[in-house]
Amino acid sequence: MKPCLICKTPIEPFMSFGKMPIANGFLTPEQYPEEHFFELVTAFCPHCKMVQLTELVDERKMFHENYAFFSSTSVRMAEHFQRFAEGVMKDYLDPADPFVVEIGSNDGIMLQNFARASVRHLGIEPSANVAEVARGKGICTISEFFNEDFARRIVAEHGQADAFLGANVMCHIPYLHSVAAGIRILLKPRGVLMFEDPYLGDIVQKTSFDQIYDEHAFYFSVASVSHLFGEHGLEVIDVQPQNVHGGSMRYVIAHKGARPVSASVALQRAKEETLGLNRPETYDQLRRNIERLRDELMALLRDLKRQGKRVVGYGATSKSTTVTNYCGITPDLVEFISDTTPIKQGKFSPGAHIPVRPYSAFEEHYPDYALLFAWNHAEEIMAKEQKFRDAGGQWINYVPKVQVS
Ligand code: SAH
Ligand code: TMP
Ligand code: ZN
Repeated sequence: MKPCLICKTPIEPFMSFGKMPIANGFLTPEQYPEEHFFELVTAFCPHCKMVQLTELVDERKMFHENYAFFSSTSVRMAEHFQRFAEGVMKDYLDPADPFVVEIGSNDGIMLQNFARASVRHLGIEPSANVAEVARGKGICTISEFFNEDFARRIVAEHGQADAFLGANVMCHIPYLHSVAAGIRILLKPRGVLMFEDPYLGDIVQKTSFDQIYDEHAFYFSVASVSHLFGEHGLEVIDVQPQNVHGGSMRYVIAHKGARPVSASVALQRAKEETLGLNRPETYDQLRRNIERLRDELMALLRDLKRQGKRVVGYGATSKSTTVTNYCGITPDLVEFISDTTPIKQGKFSPGAHIPVRPYSAFEEHYPDYALLFAWNHAEEIMAKEQKFRDAGGQWINYVPKVQVS
């Protein structure tokens, strides 16, 4: 048994997805021989309640100058982060000398709002290519991995921050004790840490197992987040469910005693008890649900193939890497995956090696069925794909269950 990444308790895996490649490692056939695989294994820690991966991929293999995920590909997410930033500006900035730090700032989808409002800010984004896009928008960005040492450097050069932000990045960082210690040093006495990530409660309730891949070292709950930051003199003062990325949770955290604690924290923790998030049996049930979902999806795809139907994937998401590799979806079942991100186009999907084509390939010759890998953007996609439906096209969804519509 491996030690828990947070509290060192020996933990037992509840599931292995088998060998998996780098979720965002879109590649060319020449690169197949060097493709990196690792075993994707998940475990629940009964002591600190953290659900986590037990085998980790080196961060430099995932986040580098060819990182394939550009945040601004989703219009709806840009609107979401605009509201997030406006909330921070309204509630948490010291008018005398405001300073905002964001980790995982990517192409500047959040910080562009602070830059436009001339608020002093700093983005910390190790993936050099996406960081460069942000700089092009006038956003101050440093390409480094955030940790405690780096926090000290920021304080020395820029002073402490009113707000420390992170979206879909905290769960990526295995050395969270160093991150939390750094945040404690970096925050002003009344400063706040606000971060959001896919929520464990949604994963369990929706069987959204495709949230599990190399980049996501942790699957947070209010219980596990409270335990972790509590060890660093920080406390969760508010939690706010978010209707993005298939169900996320935003955590607001401050120095212990610095700000009042909202009733939402205890309420959500009670919901987590009811949902069984703190009990190991829940994760055995999750594994059985995942296995059933895989069998149903594969039965459907094989049946459509027998009928000679064309099936195309919609959105070469990082999540789709878990779906294709765990379920065994090959290019004979899914002809190609359409995606709007130029860096992914013309390449092949990690592990399963399904071709990734530009959106035009989908639009110019509609398939019979579109397998919605980007299900977390369903609202945005359905709103613009009426023509596909009008042409007789049907959607295959697999979260929370396999469904054709
Ligand atoms: N916040 C954006 C991007 C999320 S993707 C959004 O929500 O859309 C995660 C990002 O975190 C990647 O761009 C990756 O390069 C970055 N990242 C990974 N580890 C990090 C670390 N230790 N410090 C800062 N950023 C990190
Ligand atoms: P994400 O789920 O990690 O945010 O990734 C979404 C992927 O889906 C990204 O590669 C862009 C792609 N995409 C499309 O191809 N079309 C769309 O309409 C949307 C919203 C995303
Ligand atoms: Zn633990």
